[in-house]
Amino acid sequence: MSRHVVFATAEIAPLARVGGLAEAASGLVRALQRTDVTVTVVLPDYGDIELDEVSSWALDLPEWCRPARARRGSAGGFDDVILIDRPGLARPHPYVEPSTGEGWPDNDWRFMCFSAGVADVARTLDPDVLHLNDWHTSAALGFLPTPPPTVLTIHTLGYQGICDSSWLTRLPFESWRFAWFDGCNPLLGAIRSADRIIAVSPNYAKEIVEPVGGMGLHEELARRGDALVGIRNGIDVGSWNPRTDPHIPINYGLEEIEGGKQAARLALSEEFGWNISGDVLLGVVSRLVDQKGVDLIAGLAPYLAGMKARMVLLGSGQANLVELVERAASDSKGRIAAVTDRYDEPLAHRIFAGSDLLIMPSRFEPCGLAQMQAMAYGTPAVATRVGGLVDTVIDVDRHRSTGTGFLTETNDLPGLVDATHRAIRSTRLASRRRLVQRRAMEIDWSWDGPADQHIEVYEAAIARRAPVDRTSATFASVETNVLADGDDSTL
Ligand code: GLC
Repeated sequence: MSRHVVFATAEIAPLARVGGLAEAASGLVRALQRTDVTVTVVLPDYGDIELDEVSSWALDLPEWCRPARARRGSAGGFDDVILIDRPGLARPHPYVEPSTGEGWPDNDWRFMCFSAGVADVARTLDPDVLHLNDWHTSAALGFLPTPPPTVLTIHTLGYQGICDSSWLTRLPFESWRFAWFDGCNPLLGAIRSADRIIAVSPNYAKEIVEPVGGMGLHEELARRGDALVGIRNGIDVGSWNPRTDPHIPINYGLEEIEGGKQAARLALSEEFGWNISGDVLLGVVSRLVDQKGVDLIAGLAPYLAGMKARMVLLGSGQANLVELVERAASDSKGRIAAVTDRYDEPLAHRIFAGSDLLIMPSRFEPCGLAQMQAMAYGTPAVATRVGGLVDTVIDVDRHRSTGTGFLTETNDLPGLVDATHRAIRSTRLASRRRLVQRRAMEIDWSWDGPADQHIEVYEAAIARRAPVDRTSATFASVETNVLADGDDSTL
């Protein structure tokens, strides 16, 4: 059945991109556009988005976020985009002041306005499903007296948008759902209210109902029972594809992995003035934020000479972590090359193709995209045993006949050193290396399967709202229908 989804997000590539949220949003929406789901993307108007505008109207918003407009058209390959245009939303970076790396001091206000705008768009368009992503959009449910069937995707619990309790008084509907200790927690409000919740990998869905992974919200999430599901992200297999990639020296598929990777490896090392001969090349492509285990990456530096390995790192982010990486590189006697001043997509492609191994020691990782992108190039990952990394990397030392990479035994520096050491040893054995490279490359990482799973979740959200036929249903089945997913809204 054809459905209309309003898809609200603070990022979507290529229109606004900070991290994995942008890639995931873009990949999913493009895959849905290939089905009979119609998607309207709602995004803040950051000021630099080229929209082919077809209409525009004033939004009906509370006093404190007026005036705001909806500008509707197409942009970035998306058929239907609505930009919420409100003075103050347009900034050089969606979340942080570029010179300091600190969040904009008025981010609570900015994303409350955006969420109010999303709510008004949903009220006007009356879609079959409202799909919210992360905390930036979550407060929309506090502005809607009768929201449409709603799905919330949690890309990370690391940011919940917690702000002061005065915001509760500005949420006209169900504000109690947003109350959190003495403040207001937008993400929590949507966790309590959405008809269905998607975590971005099955293992993350399991982790977040436990104290460590739940970041304070594990009990709230557990209470939602079966309304919480895990769906692994895909990657854009059109642009992350060694067969067609314009950024690498030789295109290669399963037949020519050895030659293609060798050419990419040589070109990458030459780029950094290295004659790597027998060294193993480790790649890192990551935002430099605490979540990504940057301290562990820097901690590998003293071991590189002994392991006969070098590391190429691409990443930007927190000032203290940029400094940590720069220091590790300058102390490494030429074993680490770090590019920390920009996100350079062509270089990311060259690193995925040219490295022997991808290093990804995240402290937590809801899904993670780099490990899948690297594997698409036949580059196995060395990763911590967390979140979506567990769903996407199979340790070859534990599972010889199916292994596609290396997972740490413990999520700390000794664990990373051990896994890297095992991975390097395996890489030096040509027959083993080829086997793991080939398996990694054979996996279908496209969005097609995950998009179908999303459609099932949309249908489940719609079905949850369907009126129960009380003439034919027994009392017991009515009861089950209301309480099936552990929602406490009816209690
Ligand atoms: C966030 C998560 C990352 C995930 C991405 C897309 O950036 O940290 O693990 O892959 O969102 O869902």
